[in-house]
Parts: sequence; structure tokens; C-alpha cells
Amino acid sequence: VHTPRVFSGIQPSGGLTLGNYLGAIKRFVDMQESGIETLYCMVDLHAITVWQDPADLRHNTRELAAGYIAAGLDPSKSILFNQSQVSAHAELGWLFSCIARMGWMKRMTQFKDKAGKNAENASLGLFGYPALMAADILIYHSTHVPVGEDQKQHLELTRDVAAKFNHDFGVDFFPMTEPVIEGAATRVMSLRDGSKKMSKSDPSDASRINMTDDADTIAKKIRKAKTDPDALPSEVEGLSERPEARNLVNIFAALSDMDVDAVLSDVGGKQFSEFKPMLVDLAVEKLSPISTEMARLMNDPAEIDRILGEGSGRARAIATPILEKTYDIVGM
Ligand code: ADP
Ligand code: NA
Repeated sequence: VHTPRVFSGIQPSGGLTLGNYLGAIKRFVDMQESGIETLYCMVDLHAITVWQDPADLRHNTRELAAGYIAAGLDPSKSILFNQSQVSAHAELGWLFSCIARMGWMKRMTQFKDKAGKNAENASLGLFGYPALMAADILIYHSTHVPVGEDQKQHLELTRDVAAKFNHDFGVDFFPMTEPVIEGAATRVMSLRDGSKKMSKSDPSDASRINMTDDADTIAKKIRKAKTDPDALPSEVEGLSERPEARNLVNIFAALSDMDVDAVLSDVGGKQFSEFKPMLVDLAVEKLSPISTEMARLMNDPAEIDRILGEGSGRARAIATPILEKTYDIVGM
């Protein structure tokens, strides 16, 4: 039986979106308050599976840390650190590259989405990404991983890696990690196309709401969000064929910590002309203090680096004995 431990990470691959906030960071904060040990990482080794300008990468890593802290992660309660500063991730990632199978990787829908038509020209790291992600999680014997819905398949692969390792070596060493995919906004969609995920890694989508957007920008983006001409329904079933409407209601619910049912019982019957300004007010109320605090923290990059340096020391203290034991099991 493994002691409960929470791990998750975000790539410093661009400005944080409302999707990252609602699907991940806000949930990280909830779990921090649960009393379980929590580790939250900037997965920079993952970010470089696609090209990152070095100066941007450094900036985005600090900004991500600022986003974590501004949203409520407390470095004295959660271990906040950079993946590249804890080399055990890369080392266990290699061992897992020898456990995971080519066929498993080929089934990963995120690789297909990210590599696009030119998969032959994708980096080898992008293809093997889920093996490193399994290492990120299992190097801490993590039992719970809060993530958005897009990571479900990678979490299943993490369990497959743990099970195959345990089976191949006849041990009961790595836990079967549970994904924690909860809340109203596990998959925030693009505001201009309800069939696409809102993503910081998609530079072509100017409709996405960034955590650093000011009030006017947030208002403009929500006002322009694609909708349909009908009034809002008063029950969830009424959203089933209306992806754009459902997305805005999910965002409202997640921002206000309400159930979708409760939101619809309040706003059912309203037109979007009335609902959108309510959503603007709510989004500005929730996001503005965070972006203000992020900007304040970004004025002192040395302090951010200090926090991450301290976090990586604490992370290393947990990871090192687990890595040593893994090598020993493998015969090294
Ligand atoms: P992105 O896809 O925006 O580059 P990452 O791959 O770094 O983000 O994912 C960071 C975390 O944010 C993951 O837990 C992921 O599931 C979550 N996430 C990303 N986009 C969304 C979204 N649109 N809705 C909900 N959660 C999301
Ligand atoms: Na993602």
C-alpha cells in the first residue's frame, strides 16, 4: 500500500490559458488543501519536444511558477519545481522507454494531434513523451494526478508502464496511479470552435483566454465567443447538441464552484446577450487578482528561481531513493 501523494505538471510552452487554470491549476490548489503531500512541476523537458526559443522557455517557466503561486499554490505546502532540475525524471524516463512498447505510443491521440500530417518530422521525444510522463509521476510513487480530460490516455499508459515493470521484474514496486479528472471544466473548448480544445500550445487560436489577460481583453474575447441563437436551457440535457453553449456554461460553473445543474437553474431561459456579461463579470472577478499577482511576482525573478530551487531539492529527496531502488530491481 502506497502513501497517498499527488503529482501534476504543466508545460512551460506558452501563456497559461483558462483551460489550464480550470482543468489543472485550480484543482491543484484544491488538492493542496486536502492534507496529502502535493508536488507540482514545470515540465520543461516535455516542452522541448517541440521547438522552444531558449529565452521564451526561461520566461515561460517563471511565468508558470508565478501562475501557480498567484492562483494559490503555497511553496510551504506544495513542492514547486522544474522537471529538468531533478535528473531522476530523465533517468527513470529512459528506463521506462525500455518498458513501454512502440505500439502503445502509436495509439496516443495527442501525438497524432501534435505531430499533425508530418509525423515523420516530429521529434523522437514527442513520440516517447508518455514514457517520460509516466516517469514524472512514478518517480514519486504518486497515487493521484489531477489533470484535464486530454491527459486520460496518458494516465492509462502510466498504469500500463507500472504494471509491466512490476510484472517483468516480479515486484510490487510502482503504484497504479489514479487520474483525478473532476469538476465542470475538465475540457475547456476553444471560444471560436466548440470542437477544439483551448490550448496554450496552439498559437493560431487568438480566441483563447490567457491568465494574464486584462479585464478588457477578457470581456472582448467572451463577447466574441461563438454561440447559437437559442436561449439557455434549464437542464443539462438541453446542452447536449450545443457544444459552444455547453462550454460557456461549464466555464461559468467551474469559475463559480457551482454544479452545472445549479448554474442552469439560475440562468435557464436567458439569452447569450444577457449571460455573456454575467460570465465576463465572473471571469474578471476571478482572474484579475491572479494576473495582478502574477505580474507582481514576475518583477522578482530571483525570488521565483529561489522557490523553484528549494522545491527541486525537496523533490530530489523523494525521487533519489526510488530511483536507486529501481536501478537495483533492474540489476544496476
Ligand atoms: P496545453 O495543452 O494547454 O499546452 P499542457 O499539455 O501543458 O497544456 O497541460 C497542462 C494541464 O492543463 C493538463 O492537466 C491538461 O489536462 C490541462 N489542460 C490543458 N488544456 C485544457 C483545457 N482546454 N481544459 C481543461 N484542462 C486543460
Ligand atoms: Na495538453
